[in-house]
Amino acid sequence: MEDTSTIVAAHTQDLNEADRTAIIQVCREACNNPDFQRLFSFLPPNGLHVLGYSQSQLVSHAVVTTRWLQPEGHALLKTAYVDAVATAPAYQGRGFGSMVMRHLAWRIRDEYDIAGLETERIAFYQRLGWQVWRGPLAGRAKHGLIATPDQTGVMILLLPRTPELDLESRLTIECQAERIW
Ligand SMILES: CC(C)(COP(=O)(O)OP(=O)(O)OC[C@H]1O[C@@H](n2cnc3c(N)ncnc32)[C@H](O)[C@@H]1OP(=O)(O)O)[C@@H](O)C(=O)NCCC(=O)NCCS
Repeated sequence: MEDTSTIVAAHTQDLNEADRTAIIQVCREACNNPDFQRLFSFLPPNGLHVLGYSQSQLVSHAVVTTRWLQPEGHALLKTAYVDAVATAPAYQGRGFGSMVMRHLAWRIRDEYDIAGLETERIAFYQRLGWQVWRGPLAGRAKHGLIATPDQTGVMILLLPRTPELDLESRLTIECQAERIW
């Protein structure tokens, strides 16, 4: 049978139970991390999922939520923050992850100022045009900045609306209840 791959995008609020179960399974298998069972308790209704299918089987996934990066000297940037990037192990190395990430970059380009993520797979994203933020990193909390000197692998993707940036400058992000980056 011909191997047809398709990429579709859907908002969290429009995913049915079967979609959610399939997404959790791909993330859990790929990352070997049972915490993904709770993925949907962290996502807002307007999360944007990019879903890669082989035939009718979900094999690859990424989700975008809106966060607010702020490079020093700049206003807050509306940020497409990417999480839960995963391809089912049996389908890795066949281009699905790259297809998902390229589609994602195209979907967000007019709605956001910049995209961001944190990863241990730097080379994978570099090949897709992402760049490592080289400057110091911190979270913005109610009472000031929380430096995150041990955080590595924060990457950004420049979009048409991204201002000119110095990737050596300090980059901050709003603290969330469960995490900073
Ligand atoms: C990282 C991950 C999402 C990549 O997904 P993927 O579907 O394997 O991605 P691709 O197939 O597009 O690319 C993977 C590699 O295969 C290579 N590749 C892609 N298509 C290929 C093809 N047709 N033939 C041979 N190699 C190919 C790519 O160059 C890439 O190399 P790299 O890993 O050295 O960058 C996947 O490996 C994964 O789920 N890993 C575990 C979870 C994880 O680390 N997630 C990222 C956290 S931020």
